[in-house]
Amino acid sequence: MAILITGGAGFIGSHFARRMIHQGKRTVVLDKLTYAGNLENLKDVVDNSKTSQLFKFYKGDICNQELVEHIFSEEDIDTLVNFAAESHVDRSISSAGNFIDTDMKGVFVLLEAARRFSIKKFIQISTDEVYGTTHKDAFRETDALNPSNPYAASKAGGDRLAYAYWVTYELPVIITRASNNYGPNQHPEKFIPLFITNALEDKVLPLYGDGRQVRDWIHVEDHCAAIDFIMDHGKDGEVYNIGGGNERYNVDTAHFILDELRKSHSLLEHVKDRAGHDRRYALDCSKLKSLGWKAQIKFENGLKDTIQWYEDNQSWWKRIKNGEFVEYYNKQYKHRFAGTVLP
Ligand code: NAD
Ligand code: TYD
Repeated sequence: MAILITGGAGFIGSHFARRMIHQGKRTVVLDKLTYAGNLENLKDVVDNSKTSQLFKFYKGDICNQELVEHIFSEEDIDTLVNFAAESHVDRSISSAGNFIDTDMKGVFVLLEAARRFSIKKFIQISTDEVYGTTHKDAFRETDALNPSNPYAASKAGGDRLAYAYWVTYELPVIITRASNNYGPNQHPEKFIPLFITNALEDKVLPLYGDGRQVRDWIHVEDHCAAIDFIMDHGKDGEVYNIGGGNERYNVDTAHFILDELRKSHSLLEHVKDRAGHDRRYALDCSKLKSLGWKAQIKFENGLKDTIQWYEDNQSWWKRIKNGEFVEYYNKQYKHRFAGTVLP
């Protein structure tokens, strides 16, 4: 039997695929290799003759029913973990179409195939963003969903569709909602890698609005360990929050990065805010804790290691930043720098 990891060439999916392979599991990755997908993320696994035997890669779209069914019938899949998604909020604000296709329709195609082939476990990787912003308490799994940007709304669609397949067809679905991930191999469009790499290049760090938005950071290895734990100990039909227990103001995270790299705080610039920007994400993780799991990596330690990784792997991110990214960055940030500069 094999595990199918969709989106396994992306940031979190590649860490999870490596984890499965190192446990000796036969691992099949299906990934469209969008701008965010990168097989270099799994180079160590592919280049090693021992681990490469356990690994098979299909380039393709989760919306492609024929391909998905072909993989199910060829590869003897008993578990599917779906990481495949369009994942960046700012891109969803500029253009939401791909998000609806992959994060909703793609989930539907995977669920249908999983049902047809009667697989044993379907893990849908959702996000804390489906809850929307919190004004007071941390969110519990039973709280209402109030997604406030197209990315979050499309993820909420996939999340609830997966749940409906459990209720309606008893497909063994589990849904996880993690907080903001950080760690090696994260695409430089995201906050932490963008700020690290801009600082390394002595470029401006564009902080949205007043920078007092709060995110709860979880290291990608902690997140993958939690998913692994939930595959063994979680109950079908349930939702599990996965938080890092590291709520930080964005401005403080930016200062930490600059201090660690011994760069001046003058590189930080307050720029025009993101439309519909959620002020604070916070998760109550007592449900997962009661099963016996909690995050281990302290944010400041994990962030120091992550900064070191980006210092040591400049060719990895420079290749990305010199490609399609140039056009994206100019389009996305030009108008922001023309906006109000806050104190
Ligand atoms: P990512 O953008 O780095 O990776 C996504 C991967 O999916 C890429 O390899 C891409 O090529 C692939 N993909 C996109 N569309 C596809 C399609 N139609 N068919 C097949 N493959 C496709 O994203 P990530 O940060 O690794 O996030 C992975 C998952 O975790 C996503 O579902 C995301 O919503 C969720 N999540 C992310 C975070 C975070 O902080 N990054 C937090 C919580 C949940
Ligand atoms: P991001 O990494 O896009 O994740 P998410 O929107 O899913 O939380 O952003 C994290 C936080 O950083 C969010 O509050 C927006 C902020 N941010 C900036 O201030 N500047 C930036 O250039 C980016 C990309 C994000």
